[in-house]
Amino acid sequence: MTERAVRLFTALILALVWIPAADAAERVGAVASAHPLADAAGMEVLERGGNAFDAAVAVSAALSVVEPYSSGIGGGGFYLLHRAEAGLQVMVDGRETAPAASSVDLYLDESGELVRERAREGALSAGIPGTPAALAHIADRYGELALAESLAPAIRLAEAGFEVDARFADMTVRYRDRLERHCLPDCPFLPDGRPLRPGERLLQPALAATLRTLAADGGESFYRGETAQALVEAVAERGGVWTRQDLADYRVVEREPAVGRFGEHRIVTASPPSSGGITLLQSLGMLGSLPEAADDASRIHQLAEVWRRAFRDRNALIGDPDFVDVPAARMLDPHYLAELAEGIRHDRATPSSALPAVDPLLEGESTSHYSVVDAAGNRVAATQTVNYRFGAGIVAEGTGVTLNNELYDFAIVVGEPDAFGLIEGRTNLIEPGKRPLSSMTPTFIEGPDRTAVLGTPGGSWIITMVTLGVLDFVAGGDAASMVSLERFHHQYLPDRIVFEPGALDPGLASRLRCLGHEVVEDDDPHGNMNVVIVNADGSFDVAHDPRNKAYAVF
Ligand code: DON
Repeated sequence: MTERAVRLFTALILALVWIPAADAAERVGAVASAHPLADAAGMEVLERGGNAFDAAVAVSAALSVVEPYSSGIGGGGFYLLHRAEAGLQVMVDGRETAPAASSVDLYLDESGELVRERAREGALSAGIPGTPAALAHIADRYGELALAESLAPAIRLAEAGFEVDARFADMTVRYRDRLERHCLPDCPFLPDGRPLRPGERLLQPALAATLRTLAADGGESFYRGETAQALVEAVAERGGVWTRQDLADYRVVEREPAVGRFGEHRIVTASPPSSGGITLLQSLGMLGSLPEAADDASRIHQLAEVWRRAFRDRNALIGDPDFVDVPAARMLDPHYLAELAEGIRHDRATPSSALPAVDPLLEGESTSHYSVVDAAGNRVAATQTVNYRFGAGIVAEGTGVTLNNELYDFAIVVGEPDAFGLIEGRTNLIEPGKRPLSSMTPTFIEGPDRTAVLGTPGGSWIITMVTLGVLDFVAGGDAASMVSLERFHHQYLPDRIVFEPGALDPGLASRLRCLGHEVVEDDDPHGNMNVVIVNADGSFDVAHDPRNKAYAVF
């Protein structure tokens, strides 16, 4: 039977015996990731007696294999953990670091002009990967199983192969140029130089070997051994500056999550070097002091106004906390937020240019999010990335590892927009060893009787999408509703509200324009949110973003 036939057959059987199957799954836990094979990897590890942390490791590694254009062991991420025992909450920071030779000069030509492509793709855009170290750390410190057991499903997928889904095949068509520039001659995603076809079997023996070695030595080879050598060579051949020492120096950092309250709900979310949590909490804090919106237009107006103010602070004040002093307490002070909210007029947009510049002395679809919970109450919200589709476009020879282009998340030039149109300040300038500012926002919403585990890819939109998800959950929404909300966004600059295709009706547009907003509709949908809710009775509510074509049966 072909894999497609097996999938259809399994769907039919599940439809016929749905209740017992769901019951069995609910006993061990629940997983929502961006790919059904990564979901299956997580469930397999839970069923073998692993906890949510082991399952998260399994999901993460499986995504390296089945969704390498979004995230993987050549990238980084933030892993928000909640351990039921003693209520420990921690963020494992596996964000990439800038190599020691990093400087803005690497991206300038002889006349001092910025060559944006050098920062955007290829060897100079790649940061030192953090995901392998994060997985080894999570397995070692929080898991029940050996790392090798949690990596087994991913190794199997890489070794025996899997049938490429329509989304993956489409990525190799759309990003063929990038892969041709950096990945040839032996690119696993361009067999015989052509894009992958839906339904064709993709084997990744080199990636399988790298994962197997990681399983055996916990990252020794990746950071200090043969794999490190192969990575450094692949980068050097393409004009990059990685050294063995950069890899040897990489460390995951355990950080306290950003925590705040919204009504009866406690929000636990990503802290710097992600800007996501602080910007989310600032937005919620300002909203909490505004009167209830009377209609859709005033609700969207209020959100645009709070996001405008929160992103202004984000862009000027947040950076890697090991390099800059992020005034988090001051930014989240209720008095400060109330003061910001006071400037919001109900009848008029505040042009971003009219907001005073932030005083720096005031004490800032690729990528993949998955949510995992287990029956013991442990949970993981993890967002990981190689940044752009296929990251730097490089698959390091002999390793199967797709390298990120995370260094393009630094403010390459102060005052000029980055990849996501964000205009950032000095706090996010590139420096050796520094972690680029992120918007990734893995989040727990802890309510009086329900808890949600959520997050999404989507660059700067991540923060606003998570804000909308939080508001929907707090208003009683279920997982399916949270992932399918129509999305809109404002990020201070450019000064406009952007809507997903079809989310802006003409009446709403004219009401918002009357308030002084520029409104536009985007060509493409945003986000790929995956949510697990733990209900009051302990049951799980799981939903994947309907925008995600990886779940379509091809
Ligand atoms: O860390 C960040 O904020 C970005 N590198 C995330 C990139 C992303 O979500 C791309 N997705 N569409």
